[in-house]
Amino acid sequence: MAIKAAILGFGTVGEGVYRTIQSHKKELETLLGKKVEVAAILIQNKQKDRNIEDNVLVTTDYNEIINLSQLDIVVDAIVGKDPAFSYLKKAIERGCHIITANKEMFAHHGKALLALAKEHSVSVGFEATVAGGIPIIQTLRQLLKVNRVQQIQGIVNGTSNFILTEMREKKQSFPEALKLAQEKGFAEADPTNDVEGFDAFYKLMILSRVAFGAEPDWNKVERVGITSITSELIEVANKLDFRFKHVVSIHKDGDRLIGSVRPVLVGNSHPFFHVEGVENAVNVYSDIVGRITLQGPGAGMFPTASAVIEDLVYAGNRNQQDKHLDKPVTDAFPLTNGSLHDFYLLNGVNKRDLSASISITEQVADQTFIVETVHEEILRLIQENSSIRYYPILDGTQTLLNRKKRKTVTV
Ligand SMILES: NC(=O)c1ccc[n+]([C@@H]2O[C@H](COP(=O)([O-])OP(=O)(O)OC[C@H]3O[C@@H](n4cnc5c(N)ncnc54)[C@H](OP(=O)(O)O)[C@@H]3O)[C@@H](O)[C@H]2O)c1
Repeated sequence: MAIKAAILGFGTVGEGVYRTIQSHKKELETLLGKKVEVAAILIQNKQKDRNIEDNVLVTTDYNEIINLSQLDIVVDAIVGKDPAFSYLKKAIERGCHIITANKEMFAHHGKALLALAKEHSVSVGFEATVAGGIPIIQTLRQLLKVNRVQQIQGIVNGTSNFILTEMREKKQSFPEALKLAQEKGFAEADPTNDVEGFDAFYKLMILSRVAFGAEPDWNKVERVGITSITSELIEVANKLDFRFKHVVSIHKDGDRLIGSVRPVLVGNSHPFFHVEGVENAVNVYSDIVGRITLQGPGAGMFPTASAVIEDLVYAGNRNQQDKHLDKPVTDAFPLTNGSLHDFYLLNGVNKRDLSASISITEQVADQTFIVETVHEEILRLIQENSSIRYYPILDGTQTLLNRKKRKTVTV
């Protein structure tokens, strides 16, 4: 008997999954020992023309899908928290494995779905919720089981990375680069989710749960988008041989998980320096292996379908596999590298506002300084004057030392 799947949604992701199941029939059958058939597709708008085979039930009524006589896997490729959450709950209760690409829904309800799935002995695939085609979730869940993760950093929003790359390479303003992203289909008409860091925030929460078995307090995670980055700041960074990247970061300090979603500067020895356009990348620092970086397409029809299909094979093979995928909650493990606390670019600040514990490395433009200090001092400064912007510099020490040397020689 074939494995019967339903796909909820037939947009970029849903269609990509459908086409990939068709184009990789043989591989799927070899891996699973059975054919995979798409039994049904849920849509919203009946008027749209779609290229779907006649034997597939195409419906706007989820009840028709959940009541099919055979249904093994439900793939969620629709948008938003609801009704996706209630659809997936029903699927699990019926005994189906579920796979989702819907990060907003999964960041809010992933914990509940995982618990329910455990009760019903089915699997939950969510590889596609973070960094599109990059297999970061399975890497953390399956391939780094014994390693204790110390920190994760990621460029996980392709739209923001595309805008920052355009601003630097083509010397465009933020509105110009955003307009281009919208024309190319990389940004939605309302880009808030991407450029204000909400999308990245959801992905950070999903990563944190997988890597550390818990999430930081949502209200305590700093979330800053890329809208504060001006052409002038891009120019300053360029001159210093740094690049702006929008980075999510999570690490454990004692019992606390510390997360942030914000623009940072990276030096040219950092793996994120060359991650450009809509590409994504994730760094995992763990105690045995050290730093590994995964890089690749963070979105798009087939990269995302790739993540879903790999989850589908896992679900189909589930009975032969280890069911205890989730890493246990581990003790804090000290960071040895990748720390965000060292050098910062400060913008909109006067020299006299800087306390003695913030040491100026260099003034790089009007009201713009590179400083060396600890994170707590920066937070204190921002509390006193919220119009000051700060950007941590990752892997910048060597660049700054080289710059100092060059300047000394010139003098
Ligand atoms: N696009 C990417 O590269 C990407 C990457 C990773 C994750 N994701 C996530 O994957 C999900 C799908 O993204 P997408 O880009 O494929 O979206 P999309 O192109 O806008 O397609 C959404 C599809 O879902 C259907 N739909 C939406 N709400 C529905 C509802 N309540 N009931 C039934 N059908 C509904 C729509 O139906 P109609 O066709 O009838 O309008 C459409 O077919 C989102 O959660 C997104 O965050 C996307």
